Amino acid sequence: MIVNKVLLIGGSGFIGTSVAEQLSAKGIFVTVPTRRLNRANHLLLLPTVDVVEVDVFQASELEALVGHHDAVINLNGILRGDFERVHVAFPKIVAEACVKAGVSRLIHMSALNADINGPSEYLRSRGRGEAVVWTVAKANQSLNVTMFRPSVVFGERDKFLNLFARLIKVFPLMLLGTPNAQFQPVWVEDVARAIVTSIDLPETRNQTYGLVGPKVYTLRELLEFVAAVIGRHRLIVGLGPALSLLQASVFGMLPGKVITPDNVRSMSLPSTSDQPFPALFGRAAALENVVPAYLGSAAGGRARYQQFRDAAGR
Ligand SMILES: NC(=O)c1ccc[n+]([C@@H]2O[C@H](COP(=O)([O-])OP(=O)(O)OC[C@H]3O[C@@H](n4cnc5c(N)ncnc54)[C@H](OP(=O)(O)O)[C@@H]3O)[C@@H](O)[C@H]2O)c1
Repeated sequence: MIVNKVLLIGGSGFIGTSVAEQLSAKGIFVTVPTRRLNRANHLLLLPTVDVVEVDVFQASELEALVGHHDAVINLNGILRGDFERVHVAFPKIVAEACVKAGVSRLIHMSALNADINGPSEYLRSRGRGEAVVWTVAKANQSLNVTMFRPSVVFGERDKFLNLFARLIKVFPLMLLGTPNAQFQPVWVEDVARAIVTSIDLPETRNQTYGLVGPKVYTLRELLEFVAAVIGRHRLIVGLGPALSLLQASVFGMLPGKVITPDNVRSMSLPSTSDQPFPALFGRAAALENVVPAYLGSAAGGRARYQQFRDAAGR
């Protein structure tokens, strides 16, 4: 199957931007629907990318859009809010729109540890979302689905290590919830390459892939790594389970909701995999080889501009 036009839902976001860049570099035409055009302005610099303001949660609007494409990638996702709507109801709308519009290729983004019986509503909704998509695919053999489940994703525009760097710069002492939570961070360019490569790779159809980097870190180790990269020495005090939940309850009520109790419950499972990054998508980069280029002192100027853009919602 030759894929010339891709509908990239959630394309304005962190991972979506890298996916759009890689699709565009291959000469593939990409449509990015967004709730607000200014969220996706940066993509208009890419030669084959178009941005449209549309409410993709309206099945009829989505269906009309899907019909103009050969494949659909759904990256919509949230860490807090109405999980049922975004992670379960919406993937069903997307899969059904593909079937109705006669589009046979769907890439669905989920997360490591997605499980209908998982410890957090985030993970349970991810599990239910996967299940509804497989149900639609089983009932319609014409629909070929590939699912991806990344661990935490890092990259120049991430909201994870960049947040750590900002907190470290402000606070002389870090009170860290869930310090022993485990992650296997994977680079956004590797995640994007897996998605883009899979689109026309027949063996990826009806498969689910975990996407992890080469090494496991605790949350404390990641914080220490970021502190070292930006050249600040900080005392890190790890909180036990009860205080971690209490801290998240307080932060969860503040604007920005840096962390919520549901996030803490997600972290009770290691976000790691006993399978390495799938070889058919190449090799995954190590954190140490990528992060200093965007968080290190030489990257200070660019990182500051990114902070200004984040603060302005651009
Ligand atoms: N980043 C990670 O570490 C990580 C790890 C595992 C899985 N994932 C999953 O990978 C996907 C992409 O992640 P990301 O980090 O790129 O996320 P992101 O930067 O927050 O982007 C998510 C996109 O989803 C759309 N979106 C968000 N909330 C929405 C809502 N309530 N209603 C409609 N659309 C909404 C946004 O589109 P508009 O604002 O343009 O409408 C945005 O472009 C998500 O499904 C995420 O859960 C991410």
